[in-house]
Amino acid sequence: MTSTATEPGTRTGSTVPEPPAPAARRSAPDGVRLDGVARSFDTPQGRHDVLRGLDLELRSGEILAVVGPSGCGKSTLLRLIAGLDRPSAGALSLGGTALVGTDERTAVAFQEPRLLPWRTLEKNVALGLPRTTPAKAGRERVRHLLQLVGLEHAADLRPREVSGGMAQRASLARALARSPQVLLLDEPFGALDALTRLRMQDLLLEIHAAEPTTVLVVTHDVEEALYLSDRVLLLRSLRTADQVEPGLPSLARTVEVPGARPRDRADAALAGLRMELLEGLGVHAHTTPSTTTSSEDR
Ligand SMILES: Nc1ncnc2c1ncn2[C@@H]1O[C@H](COP(=O)(O)OP(=O)(O)OP(=O)(O)O)[C@@H](O)[C@H]1O
Ligand SMILES: [Mg+2]
Repeated sequence: MTSTATEPGTRTGSTVPEPPAPAARRSAPDGVRLDGVARSFDTPQGRHDVLRGLDLELRSGEILAVVGPSGCGKSTLLRLIAGLDRPSAGALSLGGTALVGTDERTAVAFQEPRLLPWRTLEKNVALGLPRTTPAKAGRERVRHLLQLVGLEHAADLRPREVSGGMAQRASLARALARSPQVLLLDEPFGALDALTRLRMQDLLLEIHAAEPTTVLVVTHDVEEALYLSDRVLLLRSLRTADQVEPGLPSLARTVEVPGARPRDRADAALAGLRMELLEGLGVHAHTTPSTTTSSEDR
């Protein structure tokens, strides 16, 4: 299978505060909006500001990658959009209606597959179906998804009987089962070996081409972000920012990624953006090139 994802618009390849939306996505009727979103936690040491002043639009059908130092609030952001957490300030909406809790229009997959060990892969995937799905339609949907992620032969196996990559594919299929408008992925390939990871990236693009959906993917891997996404958001750690200039918003930079997918991983334009993002993450050009954003607490 080859990925046939197309880009519904031109892109600049430059680093800009907020790039113009291609016409096909501009109105983003199904998109996610965040307006002035903040999240802080009360801790024994006092208030911990994790996210601040986050304004962003996740355009319908785009793949948006989020990178940033460990602890800067990437998972917190994803949990807010998933409705698993509430913002301390600001508002979130999807398709023009407020997002105020878990929502059938969104689905999440995490770094660990989180499958039920006593259920077959097929039954695990079926867990993602909307509750009202008629039995026959549900069976067909699950069969289709297992095929899409290359697991049709493993439908009757249990999670302990399959590899980590297969389990993660089942987890992706489960997230897709309800045909979400927005697919939220938190380091979905982070626990996989390097080769499986590359394959899973291509699989995600194939899925996106076959079932276009809006995707937000959190990753520590800058190359992965540039390979997969239309735009990369770089978040800053407010703890660090506070020492320099109090009050900075969480969003440090937005990078528009050029080129239609599937991209050439060796593309010089991507290499330039990669260096730019790594610099933004505090990994300087003179250090050994690293593709990940691991930090001291990882
Ligand atoms: N429920 C909570 N109560 C208190 N602090 C929290 C809570 N949830 C998250 N935090 C804190 O918020 C900060 C951001 O956490 P988050 O998991 O969003 O970071 P992250 O960017 O996803 O990091 P990583 O890259 O390591 O996954 C961390 O310092 C974390 O300890
Ligand atoms: Mg995280």
